[in-house]
Amino acid sequence: MAKTYKVQFRPDEASAEVPAGTTIISAATKAGVFINSLCGGEGVCGRCRVIVRQGTTSGGSIEFFTREEVQQGYILACQGRVESDLVVEVPPETRLTGVPEHVVGEVPFLADVSKLAGRGIRLAPLVRKTCLQLPPPSLEDNVSDLQRLEQSLGKAIGSKNFQMGLKVTRRLPELLRKADWKVTAVTGHRGPLTEIIDVEAGDTGRRNFCVAADIGTTTVVCHLVDLRDGQTLGRVAKYNSQASFGADVIRRIIFVSQSPDNERALREMIVGDLNELIRELTAKYRLGTGDISLISAAGNTTMMHLLLGLPAENIRKEPYVGAAYNPPPFRAAEIGLQISPRGLLYCLPCVAGFVGADLVAGVLATGMAHADDVRMLIDIGTNGEIIVGNRDFLVCASASAGPAFEGAECRSGMRATRGAIDHLRLLDADHVLNYSTVGSAPPVGICGTGYVDLVAEMLRVRLIDRTGRLNREVSPRKIRPSQHGELEWLVVPAAWTGNNTDITISQGDINNLLRAKGAIYAASAVLLKALNMTFNDLAEVLVAGAFGNFLNIANAVFIGLLPDLHQDRMRFVGNSSVAGAKLAAICSDCYDEMFDLAARTTYFELSTDPTFMDQFVSACFLPHTNIELFPNVMAEMSAGKTR
Ligand code: FES
Repeated sequence: MAKTYKVQFRPDEASAEVPAGTTIISAATKAGVFINSLCGGEGVCGRCRVIVRQGTTSGGSIEFFTREEVQQGYILACQGRVESDLVVEVPPETRLTGVPEHVVGEVPFLADVSKLAGRGIRLAPLVRKTCLQLPPPSLEDNVSDLQRLEQSLGKAIGSKNFQMGLKVTRRLPELLRKADWKVTAVTGHRGPLTEIIDVEAGDTGRRNFCVAADIGTTTVVCHLVDLRDGQTLGRVAKYNSQASFGADVIRRIIFVSQSPDNERALREMIVGDLNELIRELTAKYRLGTGDISLISAAGNTTMMHLLLGLPAENIRKEPYVGAAYNPPPFRAAEIGLQISPRGLLYCLPCVAGFVGADLVAGVLATGMAHADDVRMLIDIGTNGEIIVGNRDFLVCASASAGPAFEGAECRSGMRATRGAIDHLRLLDADHVLNYSTVGSAPPVGICGTGYVDLVAEMLRVRLIDRTGRLNREVSPRKIRPSQHGELEWLVVPAAWTGNNTDITISQGDINNLLRAKGAIYAASAVLLKALNMTFNDLAEVLVAGAFGNFLNIANAVFIGLLPDLHQDRMRFVGNSSVAGAKLAAICSDCYDEMFDLAARTTYFELSTDPTFMDQFVSACFLPHTNIELFPNVMAEMSAGKTR
């Protein structure tokens, strides 16, 4: 049997006993310490840097570290293996912690639920509580206890097709008599059937809440909603702990496909994240977990599979087929979710392997499928999802944008947490005019919205040309070779940062950002072309995703991430995924409609479109090889407004 060693992690003061030869990242996960990983542990991203303060390790590569860092004990956590008791320090940039500030805001459509009636949306939650005063049995009225309950309930809620589990049926007689025939029936929507989930003594109708969840590859967002009136009470978010096993869905699918233990580990992580957020909400609003009757969950197809423990490996293999896109409601406790023991988990429907419930939820929330005008909804994430349509048709596609705009794939990239530069302006090729950071903290890196501004500004001051190439002659002082041999531009020197490290943007970073924006634009353009349309035929372009309202639209257009339309025709819709999850929870008709929307959405496979690669290559220019597609950008450039 392998010898075991104790690995202590600082500053968490958490520890784990692991067999010799275990990787440090696995030991960290066992200890509940989550370490950043972009490449899923392949040793190629350099994001899992830790410092071994005491003990002996084997393995690891030094290519990501300076000589001083190697002397200090820096090592890649995914490559370094435990060979003795260890003390390991996890530096701030490696930690998968913090609050994703940009995604916690209210969702535009749902801030005022009183307006929902105007959209024809009636409040009829998926789980209802109905207080009943049953007539006691007599010789003249001696139907069974269950029949008595169903008769009264049927009259109260206008339904006949009930089903009730054995467990509740067994304890019904005693409960009814002890409660003096005054009970609350908790009912769950199951299509044409109504499940009597539970029966509670007395009137418990005042405590009926739900959690609407958006399970993203990077972030998990939960809203606490009072099901009596549809009001949102609280909103919380955290980073998806699964990110320790890769920043994108492909790496996570590969990881779970390797062994049942890996599948269980990722499932437990997402369940743990949801339970943590639910605990945070219930503690803040002084609720018991038993007061949460349901969870309504949206997310991309892979996240839904990983939550339910469905085999996900076929999603990444041609023809990219998932195990199930329309799961029925499940008992939340069966998945390990800590709400009412009889509470239900409603997973919203997906369309295809790479078009998930998050996009369908967005279609529902924005109401675009009820309009005459044609709109495009773009959900910008590691996997860009795009849908075009109106009341007559819905066509969607997905573009693998990669995680560059989520703070990965760029050396100074980070998520939108404290200290991330989220907005920036340049004075000229040598000077930053001003910038802002999340939490107004000293800068420690750059998040997605900051990169959009930075690339746009670098183009304006001609630090880069339209191919994205750094122009050394424009700023010989600040463009320099990086330690990895490529050119980089110094954004903020170490002396002014919060972590004593230069914040830079390298040629490789710029290339990754251009590929990410190019994939999203090209997918949108190809989808429209297949429909014989152009961006000018759209009434609006709706932008959802992690950028929230923080994206500078003019800069997003300037770099060619978004089409060059009048700003009146561009609208942020925030986290439309959680908005759709909430709508489904408070309105059973909306939940049913989502299945219709998913069924009538046509998936357009970009990988088989012969024009996609040409469009992608063109869209990797700034803003595009055909600048006439961007008349306002062209006007700005030719008027010499660029600095
Ligand atoms: S190098 Fe360790 S996770 Fe990528």
